[in-house]
Amino acid sequence: MSAIEFVTRLREIPAYPAAEAYGYQGERALMASNETPWPPHPAVLEAVKEALGGLNRYPDPSKSALRRRLAERHELAPGRVTVGNGSCEILLAAAQAMLEPGAELVYAWPSFSIYPHLAAMTGARAIAVPLDEDGRHDLEAMAAEVTAATRMLLVCNPNNPTATALPVEAIEAFVAEVPRHVAVILDEAYIEFGLLQDPDESLPLLDRHPNLIVLRTFSKVYGLAGIRVGYALGPEDFRLGVERVWQPFAVNAVAQVAAAEALRHGDEVARRVERTAVERLHLQGELEERGLSVTDSQANFSWVSLGDRDEAEVLEGLGARGVIVRGGTGLGGAGHLRVTYGTRAENDRFLRALDEVL
Ligand SMILES: Cc1ncc(COP(=O)(O)O)c(C=O)c1O
Repeated sequence: MSAIEFVTRLREIPAYPAAEAYGYQGERALMASNETPWPPHPAVLEAVKEALGGLNRYPDPSKSALRRRLAERHELAPGRVTVGNGSCEILLAAAQAMLEPGAELVYAWPSFSIYPHLAAMTGARAIAVPLDEDGRHDLEAMAAEVTAATRMLLVCNPNNPTATALPVEAIEAFVAEVPRHVAVILDEAYIEFGLLQDPDESLPLLDRHPNLIVLRTFSKVYGLAGIRVGYALGPEDFRLGVERVWQPFAVNAVAQVAAAEALRHGDEVARRVERTAVERLHLQGELEERGLSVTDSQANFSWVSLGDRDEAEVLEGLGARGVIVRGGTGLGGAGHLRVTYGTRAENDRFLRALDEVL
């Protein structure tokens, strides 16, 4: 042990619950991190290769080409587009820019595991509002928690880890009720995968509600989790605020190029959404046939209730067979598995392993 001293607040910050690899030696089915199983589009890989030759230069600090392309894609002014090193970084920066001791942050629970960090690292008070019995956000209960001290509300739609989604009308009614000084961050990391609504349906809300920020990522449907790019759409002062707390070159040059190229291939996104929906139907159906209950997934993963089975045993049994999924305990929902859809072969491997374990 060293004698290094840390800030007191560090004790409050939870460690990120990384998936365990269980020491399996062969090829693993990686179904724990809500990535897509398909590699990036060939044109993206080509653009990345080309960008590598310029790595002696710093990246564009204002990420102008990517911000411009995102602005065109979402029909917003480029000044309203914030680009970060993954959407996680935007969340952390928003916390640094908006939260402090005495301020309050409201989010649903269980939800994305990074949310509790935002309060812990800034000394703000976290108010975690339980999901309803179907694993959905209880927006009424969340609205009831808003006080004069509330600075930020997080709504994860579809929700990680329960995969459920709320219709855009419910979100808008909620945002309309929230006082304007409260930033509502609508985390839509998985929005493209849902069949409830067109992913663009939440965008008109941005013009009606100046305290709304929509958060999106290239890590999921675009298949670029390894390169780290996320973005936020919202008022320009949100961007200016979070950029103030960042280092100047926060998003690397290769990532900027890759994301901009990925945006050109909407047809590929549509294909992935379709393939995901097919796998979702397959896996959800197979799980239900085995008597396991799942929530109504609108994402690229299922939230599976294990009933009275031992979660750790199931996880270990799957891990020993090379199938890596996430246990609910580390995500705030003990007695569950969160299973990211893989290829058909991976999904069937998961089912076979599950049959053996159960
Ligand atoms: C709800 C939600 N928001 C944001 C993220 C972070 O994505 P990124 O890779 O853009 O940091 C994730 C990743 O799992 C997520 O589940």
